[in-house]
Amino acid sequence: MSRKTIIAANWKMNMTPSETAVFLEPFLQSFPEATAADIVIAPPFVSLAKAAEGLGAHPAVALAAQNMSHEASGAFTGETSAAMLGDVGCAYVILGHSERRSLYGEGDSVINQKVHAALAAGLKPILCIGESLEERDGGQLEFVLSQQLEGSLAGIAAAAMADIVIAYEPVWAIGTGRTASPEQAQETQAYVRSVLANLFGGKVAGATRIQYGGSVKPGNAAELISQPDIDGFLVGGASLDPTSFAEIIRASL
Ligand code: 13P
Repeated sequence: MSRKTIIAANWKMNMTPSETAVFLEPFLQSFPEATAADIVIAPPFVSLAKAAEGLGAHPAVALAAQNMSHEASGAFTGETSAAMLGDVGCAYVILGHSERRSLYGEGDSVINQKVHAALAAGLKPILCIGESLEERDGGQLEFVLSQQLEGSLAGIAAAAMADIVIAYEPVWAIGTGRTASPEQAQETQAYVRSVLANLFGGKVAGATRIQYGGSVKPGNAAELISQPDIDGFLVGGASLDPTSFAEIIRASL
C-alpha cells in the first residue's frame, strides 16, 4: 500500500505574521513546486492569514491550524471555529497535541468532538497521540495509545479516515532532543496501524497516513522515513528555520 508522505510544521506559539512572511519567501524557493510529498504549515492563529497570502494556491504546501473549538459559533470568548479556519484557507487542523492534552486539559472526549466538527467543516484533522515516559516504562504504551485512538475516533466512519492523518508523538521525545529510535518508532507505529485495523479494517488502516513527531531534525529524518509505517513527520523546533525544514522535506522524498 503506497501512502503519500506528509510533512507538517507545527510552529506552536512561535512566528508573528511578519516572521511568517519572512519564512515563506526563502522556504518556497527551496524545493520544487510539485513534490512527492504533501507539505503542511501550521502557524499560530494570528499568522494564518499572512501565511495564506504567502502560499497563494501553492500546489504542494497547505495550511493548518494548531487547534480549534468543537463548537460551531456563539458565545465562546477566545475560541476559533472550524468554519473560520476553512475561510482563512486552512485545509488541515492539528487536534489533540500533547501540549493541549497536558497543559490545557484536553481529553479524548473533547478531542473526539473536535474531530467530528473538523470533518463536518471539510477540514482534515491531524490527530496527535502519544505516551509519556512513565507510561512507556510502566508497560502502558499499548493501552494508552489504543485508548487515545478509540476515544478520539469514536463514531468516525471508516470512509472518513481517508481525511484523517495520525501523528504519533511520544511525549518524552517532544522538544527534548531525544528522538525515538527508528526501530522504536516503527514498532509503535505498526502497533498504531494494528489498532486502526481493529477499528476500521485492514484496508483503511493500510491507507491511513501515520506521522512521527518528536525531535525530528535534518540529520535523523532519512532513517526515520525509511521505516515502513512512518509516512511523514510533524516537526516542531526544526520547522522554525526555513533551511532546516526544507532539508527535512528533501531527506524524506
Ligand atoms: P519538536 O520537533 O520540537 O520535538 O516538537 C514535536 C512536536 O510536538 C510537533 O508537534
